[in-house]
Amino acid sequence: MTQFIKDAQWRYATKKFDTTKKVSPEDLASLKEAIRLSSSSYGLQPYKVFIIENPALRAQLQPVCWGQSQLVDASHVIVYANVTNIGEAEIDAYFNNLTTTRGIPIESIQGYSDFMKSKITSLSTESKNNWTSKQTYLALGNLLNAAAELKIDVTPMEGFEAEKVNEILGLNALQLNASLIATVGYRHKEDATQHYAKVRKSSEELFINL
Ligand SMILES: Cc1cc2nc3c(=O)[nH]c(=O)nc-3n(C[C@H](O)[C@H](O)[C@H](O)COP(=O)(O)O)c2cc1C
Repeated sequence: MTQFIKDAQWRYATKKFDTTKKVSPEDLASLKEAIRLSSSSYGLQPYKVFIIENPALRAQLQPVCWGQSQLVDASHVIVYANVTNIGEAEIDAYFNNLTTTRGIPIESIQGYSDFMKSKITSLSTESKNNWTSKQTYLALGNLLNAAAELKIDVTPMEGFEAEKVNEILGLNALQLNASLIATVGYRHKEDATQHYAKVRKSSEELFINL
């Protein structure tokens, strides 16, 4: 069995965090790097990621996150916010980064840039927002797996009122929307959930071999 699979079996969506344990700056840096390295469609990474430690802010978020205790008990709260109504500026920023990073002339990617712009800007606002939100799930997956390797617990969360989170964090003005939340820290020894057997579809049910 690979270490990855062992880590995947170890992790679970933590319901109760140990309030006395903090993720170290070194480990937090590793988790951020795992998020930063996430794959995304076209490589655009159309989101921002908020790392929240501030207790007052977290207390303010808790009621709009279905009252979930992890918001205040975990070491850190991470909010993935997707770009809303993505447009040419985001795409230009990506190509500026690409040409600088790889030292290639902007003219060499003009055709691809135009293609990408035409594909993305022709979508409805709703489709654009759906699409940018989907990209955040990959960055969440990377966080879950990177944290498991470090024996750090994460609860992925969709259980929150996005408009209220947007309001509290001032996301609308930044052309962002709260897509996902992840609470990060260490499981409480009394969290019974850690002992539950994993519920997953069997391989026979999940995979179709053609
Ligand atoms: C996108 C997403 C949203 C979730 N939202 C919540 C949530 O709001 N609160 C919570 O306690 N668990 C949440 N979960 C945890 C799932 O219920 C859990 O991952 C699933 O039951 C599988 O169990 P495991 O991750 O413990 O193996 C969420 C998981 C995902 C992937």
